[in-house]
Amino acid sequence: QRRPRVLSGIQPTADSFHLGNYLGALRQWVALQDTHEAFYCVVDLHAITVEQDPKVLRARTRASAAQLLAIGIDPERSSLFVQSHVPEHAQLGWVLECLTGFGEAGRMTQFKDKSARQAADRISVGLFTYPILQAADILLYRADFVPVGEDQRQHLELTRDLAQRFNTRFGKTFKLPEPYIVKDTAKIYDLQDPTAKMSKSVPAGMVELLEDPKRSAKKFRSAVTDTGREIVYDPAEKAGVSNLLVIYSALSGRSIDDLVADYDGKGYGDLKKDLGEVFTEFVAPIQQRVRGYLDDPAELDKVLARGAERAREVTSGVLRAVHERVGF
Ligand code: ADP
Ligand code: NA
Repeated sequence: QRRPRVLSGIQPTADSFHLGNYLGALRQWVALQDTHEAFYCVVDLHAITVEQDPKVLRARTRASAAQLLAIGIDPERSSLFVQSHVPEHAQLGWVLECLTGFGEAGRMTQFKDKSARQAADRISVGLFTYPILQAADILLYRADFVPVGEDQRQHLELTRDLAQRFNTRFGKTFKLPEPYIVKDTAKIYDLQDPTAKMSKSVPAGMVELLEDPKRSAKKFRSAVTDTGREIVYDPAEKAGVSNLLVIYSALSGRSIDDLVADYDGKGYGDLKKDLGEVFTEFVAPIQQRVRGYLDDPAELDKVLARGAERAREVTSGVLRAVHERVGF
């Protein structure tokens, strides 16, 4: 009996992943390896939907792969690859674009957010069709589950709609994937604005895996909280403190109740300082392993080449079936 399959991707559009990426998505990637057949990719095709510097993109693609290995993606058990190394992604993307309504694509809220306040000719068509390529990424593997953060739910719905539409028109080809969203950490908030999600587009309140942990500790210390003093978990009234508790709990493995009990009678300052230390301890070995992978480019190339080869064992057959069914 085959294990359920998961597929997920992450863009190489920053020098480092941030804590929202890690707790919202990447940590689940690692855990799912134990129970699922996993395909994980660095989605460099998606990264050129906004203007890129080729040298920087190449470096970030490698750094992304190195971070995934460093947090515990095991290339013996999972297929870890770079999206552009597997040409079937773009090929299926085109077929699915031709099945997507223009209005349907226009309803994607992430596109609306990303394109707001920009002149139309500065926004690429690729940014518009991005969720369709993402659908291709997923459907190519006939994935059962897609571990993502809450912000990706709408794209997953589109993916399911496209799978269903293709199956209805051309015969059953694709599996309808389910999102795999871990509620507790589905949304990590910005440390400076705990009503907004932590995101690389707002660097001030973002903690990065590869930054100097001293800098991260300082960000935790200056995290925005409320004017109260009691440490309780109350996302509606105390968004900042609650966010810190969620992060603390996820990194330490201790329950929020346990933390709240432990900090009874102590102040926000204690919590923030301790969280800085917890994060530092968590991230130090990761940073060391990232350096190791980046210092051995040949080994990293080998891992990624093997991952792409394993991916293509799946994708070439699926694309062949698709081509045949649409009339190529
Ligand atoms: P960003 O929002 O910083 O641009 P990406 O869009 O590259 O990050 O997100 C990569 C993955 O990380 C996605 O699965 C997304 O759902 C998840 N993610 C991003 N930000 C957060 C967050 N603040 N909390 C939880 N998950 C997040
Ligand atoms: Na995003």
